[in-house]
This record gives sequence, structure tokens and C-alpha cells, in this order.
Amino acid sequence: MTSPRDIMERSGKAFLSDLCRVGLGTPAGDWFRRYWLAVGVAGELRDIPRAVRVLGEELVLFRDDRRRIGLLGLHCPHRGSSLEYGDIENGGIRCPYHGWLFDVSGQCLEQPAEPEGSIFCRKVKHLSYPVAELGGLIFAYMGPDQESPPPLPQYKALVDPNGQRSLEATRQYDYNWFNFIENGADPAHFSILHRADPNDGTWRSWFFNFKDIPPFDAVETSYGMKVISRKPGPTADTEYVDEKSFALPSILQIGDTEFTHFEKSKEALAAGSHNAHFMFVTPSDDDHFTLFTVNHYTGPDPEFFQKLEPSRRIAPKLQKKEYDQRRYSPFRGSVRSEDIMSQSTQGTIAERKEQLGTSDKGVILLRKIILGAIETMQEGEIPKGVPLREESAKVIDIDSFTGIRAKGVF
Ligand code: FES
Ligand SMILES: [Fe+2]
Repeated sequence: MTSPRDIMERSGKAFLSDLCRVGLGTPAGDWFRRYWLAVGVAGELRDIPRAVRVLGEELVLFRDDRRRIGLLGLHCPHRGSSLEYGDIENGGIRCPYHGWLFDVSGQCLEQPAEPEGSIFCRKVKHLSYPVAELGGLIFAYMGPDQESPPPLPQYKALVDPNGQRSLEATRQYDYNWFNFIENGADPAHFSILHRADPNDGTWRSWFFNFKDIPPFDAVETSYGMKVISRKPGPTADTEYVDEKSFALPSILQIGDTEFTHFEKSKEALAAGSHNAHFMFVTPSDDDHFTLFTVNHYTGPDPEFFQKLEPSRRIAPKLQKKEYDQRRYSPFRGSVRSEDIMSQSTQGTIAERKEQLGTSDKGVILLRKIILGAIETMQEGEIPKGVPLREESAKVIDIDSFTGIRAKGVF
């Protein structure tokens, strides 16, 4: 029998199994390098350099004494010491070993142990990548067009002067990036893996109910795709809707945190959600990724984030049985630990044997969109999700609606 996976594996130049490898020279690695990727949080970057691993490359992120941000190769080009321990001074970062000083462009400015009058330092240019700050996140471009990178996408959640923004602490995960991203196109798992007490009176347990799983559609959008789950609304011409979006290359947006975290009833959905919850996923290497989370709230409550904070606290876990040897046990009770258990035990897309069903249609579309974008890049064109230069000011709205609306809207 031919599975959708077999069909996809035979089409195009990139294979599904390529998606989990992100090193330079691999299909997905080269594709990722066409986009600006989140690599840090501006507020976390103070006067101490930070080692960061991005797409398998060891780098150091720092803010110089003029507040410029730099992203350089981690290892000093002299004899390799880590610039993570460098000193921020004199307009750059100074290697602690022999004092070579580099500015944010990677240019070597000083070599204290070289003879007076030496011009050797002028010839040393360390690896550096362009960086830009947007809405509190630091993005880097590691692609081929270093002199003139594509425009940094103006994501609405990061540039909107209205509403409030909050960045959550950066999180590291120890499995492949694609497992996490695919989960965003798989709404069926919400009703099963994350199911709550079906009688708790909340919207969430009513909508994502194990016994009555909402049907969903997977649709392509200008930025990527979204999955739209629906249940009949309070009147014949309306429906309850929950959307989750994916934007290329690796951004997820879910709009229902306002309802899932505050345990609101389904009637509360009439007002719709006002909080957009963005997850920028940056592969650190083939086996790890970093998650940068931004919330953008446009509702009326001036203390929304203060209230959201305690609601996020993970409920105390059930006691682990003393004979329970399982690494992720106990995982139930927190969406986060439920996801980590499921996604980190799947194996990479290259290792897995799968049998996809109808409810995997979101995952199938997601794979097709990413493989299509990689193919576009391989053909020398600009892949989807990279703004054209003439569209550099265009605001990109990665929408995902949660609430009640007219029936059948896509
Ligand atoms: S190793 Fe960095 S200056 Fe020598
Ligand atoms: Fe999940």
C-alpha cells in the first residue's frame, strides 16, 4: 500500500528525512539560512556574552559598550578560546586568552601581543552574522546574501504599537525541531493528550473533548498554513472555532491561551480571544532547538500578563511510583510536559516508521509546504515566508482566531 509519506518522499528534490538535519550544506539547513531566525532576547543580553548554537554553528551573542549587538563565531580565530568568556570593552569583545578585540562585524581591532606597528589585525575578520532587534527579540541572518540580507519580516505581534507584549523565558529542548513544529498542525492531539476533566465546565474541556473530538480543516495561507477546528455554535448560523497557525520557516501561533489558561466557559468565547501566543522555534542543531515565546495582548485588561503568569504555573505532578523507571513520568497534568514526552519519544522524521490517518491531514499539509519551500530555494527562487524587498514594510499578520463566528469561514 502506498502511504502519503511515500508519495511525498518521491516528489521534489528534498526528502522528508532531510527535514531534521539543519547543518550547512543540507537541504533544510540551506533553506533555514534564507530566513531571519530568532537567536536571543534583547532584555536578556546585558554585559556578559552568551554562547548560542544555531543550525549546528557555535556562536557568541553579545552587546558591545555602545549597545550594538554582535553575533560572532564562538571560537576565537587566533587559537580557539571561547569568546563566551570575552570582555566587553573598547567597542567590541576581547578574547580573554591573548586579548584580540573584535567589533560586531567581526573585524579584529587590537592584538596586544603583536609588535608595535603591526597591521596583522587588519587582515583578521572573524565570522559574523547580521543581527536585528524586533519587538524584544534578536534575529540573525545566516544565509548566503550576507552583504544584503532579505528584509526582516515585520511580524504584527512584534511591531504593533497597540496592545501589550510579553516575552517568556527562553527554553531549550533536547529533540529535533520538526517534532515540535508538526505538533502545531495536529489539533487532534489536544483532545487526547491534553484532555482535561470533561466535567470541569470550561471551554477547553468541552471543545477538545476525547469523546467528541472537533473536526478540523487544514488550509494553506499566505504565511504558511493553519488548522481550523470547529463545533456548532450557539445559533444555527454560527460555530465555535479554534485556529492554530504555522508560518514559515518555523513559527507557531495559537490564539486560545486566554481561554485555556483562565478556564473560561464556552459562553466567554463570544468576545473572542485577545491574546496571540507566538512560538519562534530555532533549531540549535539536529537534536536540540530553542524556543522564544512572545505574547501579544490587545484586549481591555491592563493587568492581563500579571494574571497570566500564575495561571501558567505547572500544577504539582502526581507522585512518581518508586518502581516507575520511565524518564518522563509523571507527565500528565501539564500541556508542556505532555508535549515533551510525546514529541521527544517519537524519534526524528528520518528514523520513524509511520502510518498516517485522516486526522494527520494538517501534518501532511505542513510537510508539503515546507518541502515545497525547500524546492523553491533549490530552484534559485525566493522561498515562501521570505519577504520580497519591495514588501519590506508589509506587516505580516499570522492570525489564529478563537471564538464564535459565522459558519464555514476559512
Ligand atoms: S585565543 Fe583568542 S586571542 Fe588567543
Ligand atoms: Fe500539544
